[in-house]
Amino acid sequence: MKKDETVYCPTAFTIFGVTGDLSKRKLLPSIYHLYIENLLPEEIHFIGVARQDLSEKDYHAMIRESLLEIETGLDTGVVEKFVQLFQYVRGDVAEEVTYTMIAEKIQKMDRRCDHGHQLIFYLAMAPQLFQLIIEQLNTANLTGLCTEYDVKAKIVIEKPFGHDTASAQQLNEVLLTYVEEEQIYRMDHYLGKETVQNILLFRFTNPVINDSWNPKAIDHIQISAVENLGVEERAGYYDKSGALRDMIQSHCLALATLVMMDEPLSLDSQDIHMRKQEILRTFSLYQNDPIQAAVRGQYEGYRAIADVDDESLTETYAAVRLQSSHPNWKDVPIFLQSGKRMNEKVTNISIHFSPCASNICKTQGIQTAPNILNIRVSPEEGVSLRLYAKKPGFSVETEKVNMHFTYNRVFGDEQPSPYERLIHDVIIGDQSLFPSTVEVMEEWRIVQPVLDRWNDSEIPMYSYTQGSAGPEAAHELIGSWNNSSWILGHE
Ligand code: BG6
Repeated sequence: MKKDETVYCPTAFTIFGVTGDLSKRKLLPSIYHLYIENLLPEEIHFIGVARQDLSEKDYHAMIRESLLEIETGLDTGVVEKFVQLFQYVRGDVAEEVTYTMIAEKIQKMDRRCDHGHQLIFYLAMAPQLFQLIIEQLNTANLTGLCTEYDVKAKIVIEKPFGHDTASAQQLNEVLLTYVEEEQIYRMDHYLGKETVQNILLFRFTNPVINDSWNPKAIDHIQISAVENLGVEERAGYYDKSGALRDMIQSHCLALATLVMMDEPLSLDSQDIHMRKQEILRTFSLYQNDPIQAAVRGQYEGYRAIADVDDESLTETYAAVRLQSSHPNWKDVPIFLQSGKRMNEKVTNISIHFSPCASNICKTQGIQTAPNILNIRVSPEEGVSLRLYAKKPGFSVETEKVNMHFTYNRVFGDEQPSPYERLIHDVIIGDQSLFPSTVEVMEEWRIVQPVLDRWNDSEIPMYSYTQGSAGPEAAHELIGSWNNSSWILGHE
């Protein structure tokens, strides 16, 4: 990001739920980083909205504390200037007067600065409140155009974007009743990760990679997003959601899209979304059969967690096999898995190339195996390619070797956090990294048959040991394709 090349306009940035966890842990520290990196408009004002009875002084103290909890070595002088950018509105989102107060603060800013501001509303609140807030913003005339800068108000929402196809459809209808697609920014923090942004550039700027990105060369694709943590502190939410909704429908499918979409005409948001939508439309469950295509699991002890139903049928692990009807990907299976309380925390994309066609290996009995390209989203972000090389010496023997690139070795540790990147993009109005309505609906379409099937308690819920590699049935699911196994990128 280079500030010199970016056009910023004066901005009034309102955060609903500013005293909440998301705001304290993610938003405020990210905004602070953008501030010290000089990546905010010269004129930006933040309005925090919450129900808590705080004076402006208390509110500033809360911002300072949030930063101190996350950051070390803060420059107090800079922090002081930063907190002065924040104003507070104490209010209930259900009450009209809250929006009147917000509107008054914005009008005051406009008058003081002698010009208008682009309006951004970040809804760091429970999704059940989205409809209410958007309706109220609209009634208060806050969802329109800032004529001076020709920019419409922006609404930022957090996942989950619905609970299933029907509720996602309803949420989108509400959003699109009051604002246009170009005004909606759906946060999927995976899309803000450096390594994820790298996928398209890596594919399309390296001819060797680009030329081998086809079904002749690729045998199958795997995406794993597994975690060693459980769900304890979020059990209330999680027990109504589960791994399929929480991770597969959103993050994992977003990664599969980037791996398999055709080259966009340009890196403009519209061109990228066009390609994403095209590929998503081609995805379906393997043989369109939710039973054959999906496995669910629950870690031992999950039901004993406070806020989890004693007889919960919520999966803490999900694996699915997809297929694509895109002519380029017709015979290439796509496997996705995600689980909590597994043996490690890894997000990895694994491209398995087809077996070596050369005769030499067969006739000479030389050891070889398909090449595997691992794109490590986290941790140890990077890319590695598994190859075979001749072992030094007089015999003709090969050994598995890895060509390995890691971000921190080449670029150092400094990477903008996903939230920094995404908040910056909201401010400058770049929607490339935000899922569109069509994409979200396609993602729900893909997983909905599994959700429907899993309503049936007769469908097996495989138990797995905490700290393990997930249920055996998920290994069988991937093993049914050429004896494959889940690869997390260490190999
Ligand atoms: C969130 C999910 O979207 O992503 C969480 O709701 C999950 O359940 C988290 O733990 C994983 O994100 P990351 O960046 O830690 O891989």
